[in-house]
Amino acid sequence: MQLSFAAPHSVESGAWIVGALEGSTFTPAAQQADKASGGALTRGLKVSRFTGKSGQVLELLAPAGVMASRILLVGLGKAADFDGAKAEHLAASINGRLSSAGEKEATYQIDVPKGAKLKPGALAAHLALGARLKSYAFNQYRTKNLDEYEFKLKKVIIATPALAEAKKSWTSLEGIANGIVTARDLINEPPNVLHPEEFARRAKSLLTKLGVKVDILGEAEMKKLGMGSLLGVGQGSDRESQLVVMHWNGSRKKKDAPVAFVGKGVCFDSGGLSLKTGAGMMGMKGDMGGAAAVVGTLQALATRKARVNALGVIGLVENMPDSKAQRPDDVVKSMSGQTIEVLNTDAEGRLVLADAMTYAQRKYKPKFVIDLATLTGAIIMALGPEHAGLFSNDDKLSNRIAAAGKAVGEPVWRLPLGPNYDKMLRSKIADMKNIGGGSAGSITAAQFLQRFVENKTPWAHLDIAGVAWQDGEQRATAPSWGTGWGVRILNQLVAEHYED
Ligand code: BES
Ligand code: MN
Ligand code: ZN
Repeated sequence: MQLSFAAPHSVESGAWIVGALEGSTFTPAAQQADKASGGALTRGLKVSRFTGKSGQVLELLAPAGVMASRILLVGLGKAADFDGAKAEHLAASINGRLSSAGEKEATYQIDVPKGAKLKPGALAAHLALGARLKSYAFNQYRTKNLDEYEFKLKKVIIATPALAEAKKSWTSLEGIANGIVTARDLINEPPNVLHPEEFARRAKSLLTKLGVKVDILGEAEMKKLGMGSLLGVGQGSDRESQLVVMHWNGSRKKKDAPVAFVGKGVCFDSGGLSLKTGAGMMGMKGDMGGAAAVVGTLQALATRKARVNALGVIGLVENMPDSKAQRPDDVVKSMSGQTIEVLNTDAEGRLVLADAMTYAQRKYKPKFVIDLATLTGAIIMALGPEHAGLFSNDDKLSNRIAAAGKAVGEPVWRLPLGPNYDKMLRSKIADMKNIGGGSAGSITAAQFLQRFVENKTPWAHLDIAGVAWQDGEQRATAPSWGTGWGVRILNQLVAEHYED
């Protein structure tokens, strides 16, 4: 899909999209379209239920008097509620509708409603972001009937009176879009292709080009570092485990402590010897969604040259059953020195994160650590696909994350931590076991991770098992199975609080 910005002009082909506020108040562009079509929009209002509510559409096909193939009057809702997220959703859902209708071209002429907080340039850029995210499709493995699956809308033009501002805000939003597309691609990729080494290679080649420094540690190096917890998870796999360490040094204060993002990268989670059921295993190629979000975030930060020092650490493994696989009852020693009794090999994500977190903290003394992981099925039971679970030892960081998520449409919900939950991890023979007692599964998983937080480092854990992938389409801006959840909230958090 070709995306461009243009000054307001008369639309001579394709769909012409204009807006009306609640109460059917036409914006100037809508008045113009109404006039050009000889009052067809006004007549249309009389015979429809359109009132200008957000999400409503009044569509005129082949209207007389204009060259456009159709005019779409779209509801903008209340001016005061109209923001970037609404604009993204609008462009995504209208483009989806046009694409299914076989329309090839669309021109948006949405005026900023009087009283909205958004500036015209930002509005245009957010429309572009919605359009870009909606046009995503993962068709690499289809060899036929491509026309059935591809996005039909080929050309989208966003008309704006603030052309220079639009292009400027788009340069930073485009970086975010690219980061989300990367995360989606990684999640959608099948596990026979995207094993740990391949994931690491792709992350390195993509990020190095953008000025991110990328180091890859293999099993021998991790062994030297004492990462028995991570290595135990991968030991039943033919594929070598990897730790990828990424640095974006964009701060003007060269030595400034970095913000750190740690990702669970289980390229396939069979459960190991505590084998999942056939049905439970489907989709477990996406168990690297946390790692994918970290790579996408680093890409977004580097592309928009964010003035921050950011560290990404992802642990990449494949969790497989094998004669060499880790057994339930094994005891492993983590890099932190703490020992873990592995009672269920399917609770592997926390084992991977533990060593990745220790490495990030000991080597780089970050300002904070945020980990992202498709960690527990229990979080899906609790929160479904609407919110990611948030756990934290720090109210300030936690509030900032929650606000960032709300601002960009990736909401989170905080759950509690506490000493009585921590007790559920007591082991008969080691420092801890890797499962809790059967209840509060998402919380005990978070308690486990908290045992690897050092020196009171502010830490937050995002359990993204319910939001990293989806059946069907939860949001118009996320059309594929892999959603790319996480890139936006982390980028927003950095942009709001950690850039100089
Ligand atoms: N990757 C899974 C969590 C998961 C389950 C994500 C379903 C998305 C959908 C994780 O490694 C896992 O298997 N967790 C277990 C933990 C249990 C053994 C304590 C779970 O949630 O059942
Ligand atoms: Mn598992
Ligand atoms: Zn897993």
